This record gives sequence, structure tokens and C-alpha cells, in this order.
Amino acid sequence: MTILVRTHRVLAAIFQHCKYSTKTKAISSVHLANKEFPSDEYTNVTPKIISYLGKNLHLQKGNPLAIVRKRIVNYFYSSFTHRGNPIFSIYDNLSPIVTTKQNFDDLLIPNDHPSRAKSDCYYVNKDILLRAHMTAHQSELLRSGLDNFLMIGDVYRRDEIDSTHFPVFHQVDAVRSQRKEELFKDHPDLEIFEPAFDISNPHTFVNTITDPSKQSCHTLEAAKLMETQLKSHLIGLVYALFGKDIKHRWVDAYFPFTHPSWELEIYYDGDWMEVLGCGIVRNEILANAGPNNSIAYAFGLGLERLAMALYKIPDIRLMWSKDSGFLSQFQDKNIDEKITYKPVSSYPQCTNDISFWLPTTLTVDTFISNDFYDLVREIGGDIIEQVKLRDKFVHPKSKKHSLCYSIVYRHLERTLTQDEVNKVHKHIETAVTDMFNVTIR
Ligand code: DAH
Repeated sequence: MTILVRTHRVLAAIFQHCKYSTKTKAISSVHLANKEFPSDEYTNVTPKIISYLGKNLHLQKGNPLAIVRKRIVNYFYSSFTHRGNPIFSIYDNLSPIVTTKQNFDDLLIPNDHPSRAKSDCYYVNKDILLRAHMTAHQSELLRSGLDNFLMIGDVYRRDEIDSTHFPVFHQVDAVRSQRKEELFKDHPDLEIFEPAFDISNPHTFVNTITDPSKQSCHTLEAAKLMETQLKSHLIGLVYALFGKDIKHRWVDAYFPFTHPSWELEIYYDGDWMEVLGCGIVRNEILANAGPNNSIAYAFGLGLERLAMALYKIPDIRLMWSKDSGFLSQFQDKNIDEKITYKPVSSYPQCTNDISFWLPTTLTVDTFISNDFYDLVREIGGDIIEQVKLRDKFVHPKSKKHSLCYSIVYRHLERTLTQDEVNKVHKHIETAVTDMFNVTIR
């Protein structure tokens, strides 16, 4: 009974905050960080997601994410100094509530880019969202006159549910800029910009990215030297974290805000794992934000992936654990000590399937699985370990579409009974029926 009441309250809250369903009453605002934001047809943040704001795991002493954060900061502090002082400044308390301008426009992300989709981001309304990457703060910090800085914080993305994905995770993003005097201190004859590019009139030059090795405004010498520095600084970081035996490889990549761009992969647990994205910052971004005489590199990395690989943490949900059996393994440790997580004990999983017929207005391809995942999380909370699509089916006669998902339940700190799992599962069925107008099979 208590579950029922609680679930209905949760549902009521989802209905209040999000327009998942056409049945939703018009709601006018979302309450977030002590402010009211008007809602609209973009609003899709849920109460569960809102509850993660301000948790700042990357700042909680003894949390594995905070340990990795500290090790990365130490690497940049000790590797880059000027007259004994670190040149990088750290921003780790920036608000995750950002504008679409910060998250996309300032970074030259086109209007039709898939990363802007409602199915991928948590929107407060059409102009405001929970940042999807820490790069969202790059332009404002450049505009404030900074040249070397790290931005660290929580980011929010709608995604699948499994042991390596959680809708909230943590990133370190960085910019390192240099002017000609610093970059070419041993070669004062070399230039950052091509002669055709006029530093004082950057907007009159069309900066193309057709040459794979550089932006058209940059000289090859500047682009290549920056690339060499970027790669060696990041390999240095990976060595500092994992030791010199770690295998790595560079993969060409594309980001709207850098050119050229790369991803760095490390060999971990029998497979290549992407750990960061990076590149030479598009000159338009620098010029729009202020500095018109420098070249910069930037990168962004995910703390969860690194922490899971470094400490052999098997499930991303453990980062949020308050269990002393987990936390005590990381607390009061010398941060450079080798720590290997030992599972306190592993509790059994329960898997229940859910199959439903879609209403005639939807097909197996237009049903938004991320909407379904958010609902499952909202009701099941942290006992949801994974949701897997099992089957898509179109009835040959009736042409009705049906989907089947397996929901894997596991509590990280105790054994769940089949009975309690069934209750939660039943509530998910009811909620899915209400929200998406489906018929449980
Ligand atoms: N923002 C990118 C992401 O979240 C990562 C990234 C790539 C950050 C390149 C950067 C960069 O600063 O230059 O996937």
C-alpha cells in the first residue's frame, strides 16, 4: 500500500513536471534550485533527475570520482607552472542549469544536430536545460578573460540503462590557450595565423575546416605544434593515472567545436575504451568570446569511466552509494595508492519482462525508448540495474506493434525478494499504460 501511494505521488509529480502524455494537465512551471522556470513543450526533466542536482559527488571526499578528480587536478597543477604557480584555474562549482546558447550555440553546434534532441537531453524548457557536457561553460570562461582552465562537474544525458550508463555523470573539460610569444618562444619567426587572416577583423575571414590537419586560419606549424602538445599532455595524464604500461590509441573524431578532433582510447579489460574527446578549438569560438590572438586546445573526459577502470568498480550506480562497505574502501587513502574495489558481496538479480501493444498512433520505431527508461527509473529508482529491449513485433494480421523489454532489478546492498520486485514491476506496468496509452500483453 505504501508503495502504491508513493508511486502515485511520484506519478503525480511526473505529470506535474513533464508533459509525457497528452493527458497531462497544462502545467506552468518547474521548480529548480530555488527558482521557478516556465515550462513548455520541451520540458522533460523529472523529479528523480532534479533530485541529483547539488549532490556534487566530485567534491565528496572519499568518493572515487573525487579521488580521480584530485589526481587530474594535481597532474595539471604540477605539469604547468609559471614562476612556481599553477597556470590552470579550476571551476568545479558552476551551475548545471544552462541555456541552449551555452550548451550548443556558443559551441557552433548546428540547430539540427542530433545532440540537441529532446530524446537526448533533460530540458527545463526550450531555452534552458541541464548541461549535457561541461564544454557548455567554455565560452563564458573565455569571455571572462581566462586562458587556461579546467571545468569539473555533473552533466545530464538521457540514455540507456545498464552498468556503465547513468543519466547523471561527471566530466572534466579543459582549455589551454597560447599566444604566439608562448607557443613559438624558440621560433619568433613563426606565426599562429595565415597571412590572409586579419586578427583585428576575424569575422571577415571564412574559416574552413576542409583540410583534415588544420583550420584554414591557422598555419600548419601552429596547428601541428598544438596537436603535439595536446597529445603528449593527455598521454601524460593517462600515464599518471594508469601507469606507463597502459596501451592507448588515437582515433580521428568530429566535434562541431574543434578541428581537428580526436578521441583517446585505452586498452582495458580486453577491449578499447574511449576515455576522452579533444581537439583544436574552432577559432570562431575564441574570436566570439574575446581572445583574437591565440590558439587553444580543449578536451573533455568522463570521470566515471576512469574511476570504474582504475578501481575495477563494476556498476556505475555504486558511485552514488552511501554504504560504508563501499565508501570505506576509498576513504582516508593516499590518492595515488593502488585501490582495487572488493565487492562487499554481490546480491542476486531478478529479471521481469514487460511487453505491451502500442497505441495505433505509435510504431516500434517512433516509440521513444528514453521516455520509457526515465519512467522506469522514476518508479524503480536505484534498484533498476538494466533495461534491455528484447523484441519488436508487428502482428501480421492486425498490424499492431508491440515491444518487449527485460527489466533487471538488483539492489546493491541487500537481496530483493521476488515479491517486492513484482510490486514495483506492477507499478511500472500501470504507469506505462497511463503514460503511453499502451496495452500490457
Ligand atoms: N563535450 C564532448 C562530449 O561530452 C567532449 C569534448 C570533446 C570536450 C572535445 C572538449 C573537446 O572540450 O574539445 O562528448
